[in-house]
Amino acid sequence: MTTITVCMGSSCFSRGNSTNAEFVQKYVEEHNLSDSVTVKGCLCEGECKNGPNIKINGKLFSHVSPEGLEDLLSYELGLKK
Ligand code: FES
Repeated sequence: MTTITVCMGSSCFSRGNSTNAEFVQKYVEEHNLSDSVTVKGCLCEGECKNGPNIKINGKLFSHVSPEGLEDLLSYELGLKK
């Protein structure tokens, strides 16, 4: 089981995670990953200056842009060859 945690603290949220959270959810649905990937939100984790932040299985990714998110997800979820 993979867990994707999107920081929903006000700094990350306003700097891109509002869009990123929607994208992650849509990505999981479109790739039929709902059984193997859980998407959660979390509160500010004190890393605001590097935000927006997303964690995949506890591994922190900072400065996550909506443009780079698809590549990040496909790589981290093993969908990219
Ligand atoms: S708001 Fe995301 S780390 Fe602070």
